[in-house]
Amino acid sequence: MLRVSYTDAAGIIPDSVRTQYMERQRRVLDQVRGGMAEYADSLGWLDPDTWGGSTVQAELTELAAEVRGGADVFVLTGVGGSNNAARAVITALAPDSVPAVCYAGNTLCAYELERLQKTLGSASFYVNVIAKNFETLEPGSAFRVLRSLLYKAYGSGAAARIICTGTPESQLHRLCLEHGWRFLPFPPDIGGRYSAVSPVGLFPMAAAGIDIAQLVQGARGMRRRLFSLDAQENPAYQYACTRNLLYQAGYAIELLSFFEPRLCNFSRWWIQLFAESEGKQGRGVFPSSAQYSEDLHSVGQFVQDGSRLIYETFVEVRNGGASCRIPADGVDDRFNYLDGRDFADINACAFDAVYQAHARILPCFKFSVDTLDAYTFGELFYFCEFACVLSSLLLGVNPFDQPGVEAYKQYLFSALGK
Ligand code: PA5
Repeated sequence: MLRVSYTDAAGIIPDSVRTQYMERQRRVLDQVRGGMAEYADSLGWLDPDTWGGSTVQAELTELAAEVRGGADVFVLTGVGGSNNAARAVITALAPDSVPAVCYAGNTLCAYELERLQKTLGSASFYVNVIAKNFETLEPGSAFRVLRSLLYKAYGSGAAARIICTGTPESQLHRLCLEHGWRFLPFPPDIGGRYSAVSPVGLFPMAAAGIDIAQLVQGARGMRRRLFSLDAQENPAYQYACTRNLLYQAGYAIELLSFFEPRLCNFSRWWIQLFAESEGKQGRGVFPSSAQYSEDLHSVGQFVQDGSRLIYETFVEVRNGGASCRIPADGVDDRFNYLDGRDFADINACAFDAVYQAHARILPCFKFSVDTLDAYTFGELFYFCEFACVLSSLLLGVNPFDQPGVEAYKQYLFSALGK
């Protein structure tokens, strides 16, 4: 079960201030739990059963079984909210899945696309294109490259290998009907970054062999907790309120720090969620991440000793489920104090040491889970989404739009002659 704690040894936000703020703002929690009429068209994620219930799971699992039976490679094609959640889970839980998962539609880099084409070579592959509005340049352009490969290899049989996740009745849906491509609904009432527990995130996860029923179960469990706990005990509300108080106190950067490199794409999901939801109208905490222990040898210096702008959120995995012992080989290399120690134990020691050192200076949250599994990801997704909405409302911004990403597109589309 996900546990969330907070340490503020330096007393940046006195407990009494936190308590009063949480009391004063509790209508925001009521507002989110009550279903926020003004954002009703963006709340399809609030109940995981709306777009991830057992009927949806059964359909996705059946289609995924077909893909798993016929593909060496599954190409997940999407960007931002359209691929981040699935990529986070697949990277962490199924890095060596069969079929192998490749990513496309998240870059405009010719080098990467050339490499992908070489990887696909003579492999049997399926493509899942995920696009809510099907105007985004990266997935739209990559889809052309991929489907031309498919049609070259399979002729009319290519259509069955193309699965599009798009808005019902959109241009993409029409193309599916015209060309016989498979179609999954991108929920009209969910924006990309809130779409983990819907066909958007669940189908590619299922194609990679993830237990999506467990993931939805984790999200459900978290929903139950966040809907039943009172404001002062509610971890998502505590997190949202505290990060707003920290922001007001000048702590404008949040660092999500983790000691399991396989969480790197989870951190990217988290960054997108908070950056696009909160960073608007000249406001918002800048979300960033650090992969320890490697980054202790780079940004670690700044975190411990640099400008006081950063607070940190550690992700603790108590049992990483792996073991690698350091052999005692009799060579006096001055690492003999590690003879026979397990990296799992050394990494845990590093976690505790870093947490202790940083928490002495900085406000620190801890997201702690016993293991990394599908259930845990369901909890994490739901917790972060719920907390992000609370936090955005406390900040006074709309959690569901992203007007800032339009500016560069005008220049880009004009440069490309759109
Ligand atoms: O969270 C969001 O809404 C965005 O990050 C989108 O997911 C992203 O821009 C991709 O959009 P689309 O699926 O329309 O290509």
